Amino acid sequence: MEIKNICCIGAGYVGGPTMAIISYKCPNIQVEVVDNNEDRVNQWNSENFDNLPIYEPGLAKIVKKCRGKNLYFSTSVENSIRKADMIFISVNTPTKKKGIGAGMASDLKWVEACARLVANYAEGHTIVVEKSTIPVRTAEVIKSILEGSDHSTNKIKNSTYEVLSNPEFLAEGTAINDLLYPDRVLIGGENEKAIMSLSNIYSNWVPKEKIIHTNIWSSELAKLTANAFLAQRISSINSVGALCEATGADVREVARAIGSDSRIGSKFLNAGPGFGGSCFKKDILNLVYLSRYFGLPEVADFWEGVVKLNSWHQHRISKLVVQKLFGTVTGKKILILGFAFKANTNDTRESASIKICKDLIEEGALLFIHDPKVSSKQIKADLQIDEDIYLKSKSESQITHAEGGWCAIETITSSIDNADAIVILTEWKEYFDIDWETIATKMRRPAWIFDARSVLKDENISNFGLNFWRVGDGSKNNISNLLEN
Ligand code: UDX
Ligand code: ADP
Repeated sequence: MEIKNICCIGAGYVGGPTMAIISYKCPNIQVEVVDNNEDRVNQWNSENFDNLPIYEPGLAKIVKKCRGKNLYFSTSVENSIRKADMIFISVNTPTKKKGIGAGMASDLKWVEACARLVANYAEGHTIVVEKSTIPVRTAEVIKSILEGSDHSTNKIKNSTYEVLSNPEFLAEGTAINDLLYPDRVLIGGENEKAIMSLSNIYSNWVPKEKIIHTNIWSSELAKLTANAFLAQRISSINSVGALCEATGADVREVARAIGSDSRIGSKFLNAGPGFGGSCFKKDILNLVYLSRYFGLPEVADFWEGVVKLNSWHQHRISKLVVQKLFGTVTGKKILILGFAFKANTNDTRESASIKICKDLIEEGALLFIHDPKVSSKQIKADLQIDEDIYLKSKSESQITHAEGGWCAIETITSSIDNADAIVILTEWKEYFDIDWETIATKMRRPAWIFDARSVLKDENISNFGLNFWRVGDGSKNNISNLLEN
């Protein structure tokens, strides 16, 4: 079946970039990305390409090339479904907040809503592709909704369906590259014709040997497992980092040493403030839920440990900041560098910064938060604390009386006066070459720099009389003292 019209439901971090690349690589296919969030759609359609709703290097250039030619963003969900030969479901599947599986299982209500929309409006033969990160057996839910939809309606509309699973493996910040040169494309399904229709789209730019066909359940489980394995590496290295700090080793050296074993490999071994992002925690919790559901409590506990370690590690960092600042941060001025969950994205979902900032505000700190791509509106939504807009305009003497608050800042230099500490939480490129000599003259002594991303060099900081802590770096500890204790 030749695909001429694609509809993608969900214009988010997955749907937007993925459809931009499909339209770019397949000029003969009309691609419409629909979303019921009107603001988001307007942003995708904005004249100024700097105002797209998501920041992703290289994305604006591709949207500029394709939008209006064969790539469209709209809120006309029903119309778009009607026209489509292939429908991608790319809506969000956050963790359930209440009911059975609360805090663990994914909430499928948006996926279900989409399946119902498709059942109501699709005409002719439609291939439905699930792209959202989903718990295993979601395709079954979609299928039963489509097949169970009123038979007479299907008959009048002459509707038939095939459901495929095609999980997305792009990482934010490198999404365009990941989509253009994927390690693999995974397509799960039962119907050979439908699988080939989707394969043919990808084979416009992906080598055939990288397009893997599996059964639908393997495809869904592979997505959860890939993210669980990646997240597990980060919890592993962060746990070793804590041990390094305690014993005098340096986690970077350990990572280099173990990473050169080709069986282990060198990627994803950067100790940091703990993993964030919309996928890792959610996918592992899904795995935990599924394992418990299928009577495998040991398997569930194993994977749950990865999430628990991550959460412990994030709190460990905020505790450590408090400890180093003489056990109290009340009324102290702390600059937070980075709020996004990683560099090169404006996404803050599950960002370590949220937990760490909340902890520090709770302890009474005055946080001056900098991020080149995250808006103060977003920070407020994440912290669930109003921005103290007077904070940055207050004189230093007034600041010393304030307790527990935050404000967003545009530049580091304009807010550094009398700061007690700087905490680096996202590895934005601009934090690699800060002028520490100037910064050092403006901070209140003893001043601390906490580098949770290993972006700084020790000598650059210590030479200017600043105290320096780096994640996983115990090399400055006196090991003989430690052993005696
Ligand atoms: C992840 C998967 O990589 C991707 O394949 C899947 O489709 C979605 O989930 P993403 O969450 O966008 O992608 O980013 P990723 O690069 O995996 O980083 C996740 C988190 O781990 C970030 O907070 C990052 O800072 C952290 N991380 C990553 C580390 O702390 N150390 C590392 O070595 C790598
Ligand atoms: P992801 O990272 O998985 O792409 P996002 O939250 O960035 O997740 O994007 C999902 C998008 O799906 C949101 O913009 C949301 O408005 C949209 N969405 C959710 N449910 C529906 C629906 N029933 N119809 C249309 N759009 C939907």
